[in-house]
Amino acid sequence: RADDGYRLWLRYDRVADESLRATYAAAFTEIALPAPTRPGFSLGSIEAARDELTTGLKGLLGVDLSTVSQPTRDGALLLGTAVRSPELAGLVSEADLRAASEEGYVIRPVIFAGKRCVLVLGNRDVGVLYGAFALLRHVQLHEPIAGLNLVSAPRIQRRLLNHWDNLNGFVERGYAGQSLWRWFELPDIVSPRYRDYARACASIGVNGTVLTNVNANALVLTPAYLQKVAALANVFRPYGIRVYLTARFSAPVEIGGLKTADPLDPAVKQWWTDKVAEIYRIIPGFGGFLVKANSEGQPGPQAYGRNHADGANMLADALVPYGGIVMWRAFVYDNNVPADRHTQGFSEFQPLDGQFRSNAIVQVKNGAIDFMPREPFHPLFGAMPQTPLALELQITQEYLGQSMQLAFLGPLFEEVLDADTFRPNAGSTIAKIVDGSVDLHGISVIAGVANIGDDRNWTGHPLAQANWYAYGRLAWDHQLTSAQIANEWTRLTFGNDSAVVQPITSMLLESHEAVVNYSMPLGLHHIMAEGHHYGPGPWVDQAGRADWTSVYYHRADANGVGFDRTKSGSNALAQYAPEIQNLWGNPATTPDNLLLWFHHLPWDYRMKSGRPLWDEIALHYQSGVDTVRTWQKAWATLNGKMDDERFTHVKQLLARQEHDARVWRDACLLYFQQFSKKPLPAGVEPPE
Ligand code: GCU
Repeated sequence: RADDGYRLWLRYDRVADESLRATYAAAFTEIALPAPTRPGFSLGSIEAARDELTTGLKGLLGVDLSTVSQPTRDGALLLGTAVRSPELAGLVSEADLRAASEEGYVIRPVIFAGKRCVLVLGNRDVGVLYGAFALLRHVQLHEPIAGLNLVSAPRIQRRLLNHWDNLNGFVERGYAGQSLWRWFELPDIVSPRYRDYARACASIGVNGTVLTNVNANALVLTPAYLQKVAALANVFRPYGIRVYLTARFSAPVEIGGLKTADPLDPAVKQWWTDKVAEIYRIIPGFGGFLVKANSEGQPGPQAYGRNHADGANMLADALVPYGGIVMWRAFVYDNNVPADRHTQGFSEFQPLDGQFRSNAIVQVKNGAIDFMPREPFHPLFGAMPQTPLALELQITQEYLGQSMQLAFLGPLFEEVLDADTFRPNAGSTIAKIVDGSVDLHGISVIAGVANIGDDRNWTGHPLAQANWYAYGRLAWDHQLTSAQIANEWTRLTFGNDSAVVQPITSMLLESHEAVVNYSMPLGLHHIMAEGHHYGPGPWVDQAGRADWTSVYYHRADANGVGFDRTKSGSNALAQYAPEIQNLWGNPATTPDNLLLWFHHLPWDYRMKSGRPLWDEIALHYQSGVDTVRTWQKAWATLNGKMDDERFTHVKQLLARQEHDARVWRDACLLYFQQFSKKPLPAGVEPPE
């Protein structure tokens, strides 16, 4: 059958091994729902769990499970919450219930009403839904039923996707078609795809979605659009997903008829207070606002002589009565400020620590420049202990080959989450700062800029689905490894045959580093083509906009290459903890992969490998190309082991990636060679 990738990792294909299938079928004979969410009618999370289990187990096992209110035989799947079904809560320990916390679950064999059952218990309804997905994953992965004991809860409270979707359907930095949200049709036409989106998100624990672009359009806050948003929110609610919107700071002027958007002006405050009240009337459970202000031309409080905290607090005050939050982005820089762009976010935000309301979160990109293929962690992490900081990751591959190239981002996300800020002390990783455990914040947020569009396979590149998956899994549990996640995703998406799983998993795990190697190795950054950001452009030198040019970042000259961010240069390094400054302040102790981020070094600088810098750069470019070629060989072994559609599509994409990797290598080496004036070392193919 044609496979267009629509089903993502929720494929539910029949378990081929008959004896395994029979074991599962004996373990799952019916679904018992002692206390439905809303008896008799609309869909709540428990009903969504029931529906998913019914569909999933029908696919996997070929059985039709009926729903009963009490178990009638052995093998009942018993779904419920501790709150509404105390008799179920009594089947597990207090410690289990605590471990499941607000949104998690406990899954375990129990005896209930004299029958052998599998209990899927949450403290709240949504926990049951997450449990249902975990159980289905268990079966999809062909894990044993004997000794089944799954207890899990998320470490971060708000796990969001950020869609950079415009109201006209265009997705900024989106490479998988148009926006999923069909604003013109809504609210009258509610595409079934919205539910599938919600299922996919819930299956990995994503519980919030910002529907609109950070470069915001105020129109989404008008009544007609709010009705459309409400229609989406209604579909998402049973799946535990709240909707959020981007708030354009100048909305009171643009759609409110006011003369000013000054956050300290009483009329402006009133306008937002009324607007928020209206939103909650139309969209119960609305999550809050995401704001990009005073950055890249977006309006903001600075136009009125106010600061980011003034702006954020005004919105936070309007949202607080409803439990809403505001996520205020720290991605700000200005070409007219002479300082290294790397330092600007920190300089504007760090002094404001302690001035934000408790429901205002500062949302920080993983790195200070942008979402470079590799970037040192953002120095704001650890430097604003009184403010909850959200981590913003980019799932869409703006600088990583977009939807044309394989770049599995699990290792990148893991690298960021595990980075040690040394603030206030060693072991204060970004993950622990974001989940609130270092500074004991009551609120925690993680955001991923979505790679989803209306392409049938959702993400353009079939293997880019793994990035959506990896983001969600790490947002739920940042202690998972990307190797575990890659293995899990591959098995869910391509089946459990090790001859398929092994090569795909290896490709995924190598891919991020390979893209770094053939595009921006050794800490080179921002040397991509102008505007669209696909492919090389180390020569980009745009008059009047230094912070958008490549020459500003690589600084290649006859003496060497790299951006000196130590004391002798921009001193951006001073924004990090002393331990980091000591390490990265010296080229000898700076990891190779960040070397040129922090240092300008001569072309014949002796690397740890013993090779001169120029040779090392060239060999990294070559190694990136070589790695892609090994994937082409590995992929060829999968012919006949999967559907032709996905096989051929990925085969073509890999051929294109090999070509594009060569373009990167040749363009960058030829460009830099003008300065190094050195020959290519042995092992590097001459440019074509
Ligand atoms: C990058 C990206 C923009 C985006 C911006 C942001 O600069 O290229 O398209 O708007 O980040 O995160 O605000």
